[in-house]
Amino acid sequence: MTEQTVDYEKEEHAWDKSYSRGDNNILYPKDEVLRFMSKYIIKRTHSLYGGMQNTVLNIKSPDDFPLDIKGLDFGCGIGRNVIYMGELGIKGYGIDVSSTAIALANSFSSSFVQKDLIEADNVNFLKMNPGEEIPFRNSYFDFSVCDGVLDSMSHEMTKQCFGEIFRVTDRYIYFSVIGSESHTSGNFVGEEVVTTPQHEENTIQNYFDIDKINDLLSPYRQNIMELHIQKETKEYAKQEVETVVSGFNPNKHSRFHVTIEKY
Ligand SMILES: C[S@@+](CC[C@H](N)C(=O)[O-])C[C@H]1O[C@@H](n2cnc3c(N)ncnc32)[C@H](O)[C@@H]1O
Repeated sequence: MTEQTVDYEKEEHAWDKSYSRGDNNILYPKDEVLRFMSKYIIKRTHSLYGGMQNTVLNIKSPDDFPLDIKGLDFGCGIGRNVIYMGELGIKGYGIDVSSTAIALANSFSSSFVQKDLIEADNVNFLKMNPGEEIPFRNSYFDFSVCDGVLDSMSHEMTKQCFGEIFRVTDRYIYFSVIGSESHTSGNFVGEEVVTTPQHEENTIQNYFDIDKINDLLSPYRQNIMELHIQKETKEYAKQEVETVVSGFNPNKHSRFHVTIEKY
């Protein structure tokens, strides 16, 4: 599949329909996002000189809160990661191409705000068109997360979006993408349109192996101080698994979790 053959308007509508059906309506972050946040963003260690230290800002004592950290969730869906950032006192920004997802994100987050669980300023959602520049200056965000998004588009679009995420992030990036073993063939590196009349119908799945990830990162390597690529592989018993996505392998699933620290 080439960039020219992808109809972005159709893609956008496919995501709108998907959210209207209730796909991806999950309100709490994935374990790996929580781990990334806890390891790199809100980690507090007791320093030799007393007090607390935070890895993003140098927080020396609990009195130094509230934090002035800005986080981006690219492809935020209904806003679960932004709501979590808000709960931590981080100024969260979610961006997505689906206006249905953005409407849901605004509605879910406002119920947290109304209950005084989150400050209104800390949950911000923005709809953008596929492939548009992220409307923030270079290094505006202290960190970015992008969970299951760079594998939900054509690879040309993945490269464009990753470049933008890299540009607007000052220090830490987490992203996850689906692995080639998740495909029904057992090993497929490439893109295809989801065709089953169910979960994420008519959206694109872009399957990765380690070489494809390294290729995506290669133009940025000189600006990467630390890189962790973790491969998660799960094997299922056939009878316990429902095949929800065409091309999804019911026996095996793999996903890459990538953490980057920029210079
Ligand atoms: C599988 S969902 C994941 C949603 C969210 N990250 C989560 O973990 O709940 C993929 C998301 O990517 C968004 N998306 C697809 N193409 C995009 C693009 N070019 N730019 C920004 N978001 C995009 C979709 O609208 C959808 O919300």
